[in-house]
Amino acid sequence: MEEWIPIGYLLSAALFIFGLKKLGHPRTAPRGNQYGALGMLVAVITTIVSMQLQSGTMNWELIIAGLVIGSVIGAIMAVKVEMTGMPELVALFNGFGGAASALVALSETWKYIEDPTLALPTGLALQVVVVAAGLSALVGWMTLTGSLLAMFKLKGGIEIFGKWFKTPTWGPKWLNAVKVLLTLAVFTLIFMSINEPTNETYLWAIIGISCLLGIVLVLPIGGADMPVVVSLLNSLSGIAAAFTGFIINNPVLIVAGSLVGASGLILTFIMCKAMNRTLPDVLFKSFGGSTKETVTRTKVGSDPDEVAMMVDGAQKVIIVPGYGMAVSQCQHQVKEFGDLLEEKFGTEVKYAIHPVAGRMPGHMNVLLAEANVPYEKLVEMDEINAEFPECDVAVVIGANDTCNPAARSGEGPLAGMPIIDADQARTVVIIKRSLSVGYAGVDNDLFYEDKTMMLFGDGKAMMTGLNNAVKEI
Ligand code: TAP
Repeated sequence: MEEWIPIGYLLSAALFIFGLKKLGHPRTAPRGNQYGALGMLVAVITTIVSMQLQSGTMNWELIIAGLVIGSVIGAIMAVKVEMTGMPELVALFNGFGGAASALVALSETWKYIEDPTLALPTGLALQVVVVAAGLSALVGWMTLTGSLLAMFKLKGGIEIFGKWFKTPTWGPKWLNAVKVLLTLAVFTLIFMSINEPTNETYLWAIIGISCLLGIVLVLPIGGADMPVVVSLLNSLSGIAAAFTGFIINNPVLIVAGSLVGASGLILTFIMCKAMNRTLPDVLFKSFGGSTKETVTRTKVGSDPDEVAMMVDGAQKVIIVPGYGMAVSQCQHQVKEFGDLLEEKFGTEVKYAIHPVAGRMPGHMNVLLAEANVPYEKLVEMDEINAEFPECDVAVVIGANDTCNPAARSGEGPLAGMPIIDADQARTVVIIKRSLSVGYAGVDNDLFYEDKTMMLFGDGKAMMTGLNNAVKEI
């Protein structure tokens, strides 16, 4: 039986890698998710069997209770979460992942602090285990507090006893020095604990400072940079798991943790590139979107009939979806609009996808795929931008920052972020409820251009009105 354990771990690691590969394309992503879940099931079963073989006795009540409670909570959260609340859920799960790894590492080290004569399962010296546990504590606890703060920031505040408290974005320059000092303090404590591995004071001090570090790291980061932080914390939760894998000698935890760490880091850099920010800029510099501009200009709105008449003659229409489409859940009406144009007027219709449109990576792809928009019609920003000068109408539905020309100015929270060039189209239709700013808090000149028609209203109501008007032509 024992010889099957490495095979079980190998199988689950292979399933994680195939799953990750399949996540690379929207069409194969659901299958990738299933592979990942299956890999996790195989890993859990293999670990339980291996523990049974090693110890001979198992606390089955505790294991079954943990599995049932965890599965029920996970299933309820997955069913209840709105698409718009997904980044908060991801941030929360990152935090739990980091804390789980740090707790496992803590419980393992604790056994040896209590009885240093115990044989270590890894065959490693206690000092090595203590260093790995210290690093796991640093990354794990920092991920927990940082992710919880990130979640509250994404939610826009926190409700305590019926009162809604705004989560502050606060970051004087000297806070950067505090971050460096806290990090140095943790490393010093880890090195000190090498000489005194059974001194528990070091361990508690490492945990306390790491928790503080997570808060200090995320506190100054606001607005537009928050998705990058969530992705970085996701990567850190994987690194914490990999450290813990070394301590308990669990190969699949090392493999899965490294995969999460590496893929999270790659995603972080992709998002930094999409926002034209560097990682040090995000962590140590300006605090994007912490202040919102007040809108003082006005613009007269159009109505669906007027817009329908205008698209009647269009040969090429590019739809630019954004966060407002997710809020109003109008992806089906958007798809119907595209189909109507193609069927009734023979218009060429494409969708322009900005890498950070919405509130999570791939947000627009997921929603439009749910509405059965063919994948080949979803065109990434870099590719579609060249097509705007020959586009008759750009229909912007609930997007703002991702097509705000202010990003080209080199100043403000959006400075340098690559945008969808909707303003290069001959006519622009923008559907949103008001002239108010987007996530980064920057007013958008595109709204006030002569060639821009504003359709003020909820996305779903406006798209339904527009579809009815097109049908009547
Ligand atoms: P945003 O700039 O956030 O603008 C969305 C617009 O949607 C708002 O101006 C809002 O205007 C409108 N809206 C809201 N509810 C609506 C409704 N029911 N019907 C119609 N319109 C509605 O959106 P974006 O262009 O997608 O940009 C995304 C921003 O979020 C970027 O700054 C990005 O950095 C940030 N961000 C991205 C992510 C990821 S990974 N995608 C994660 C977190 C943050 P009204 O209030 O006037 O309706």
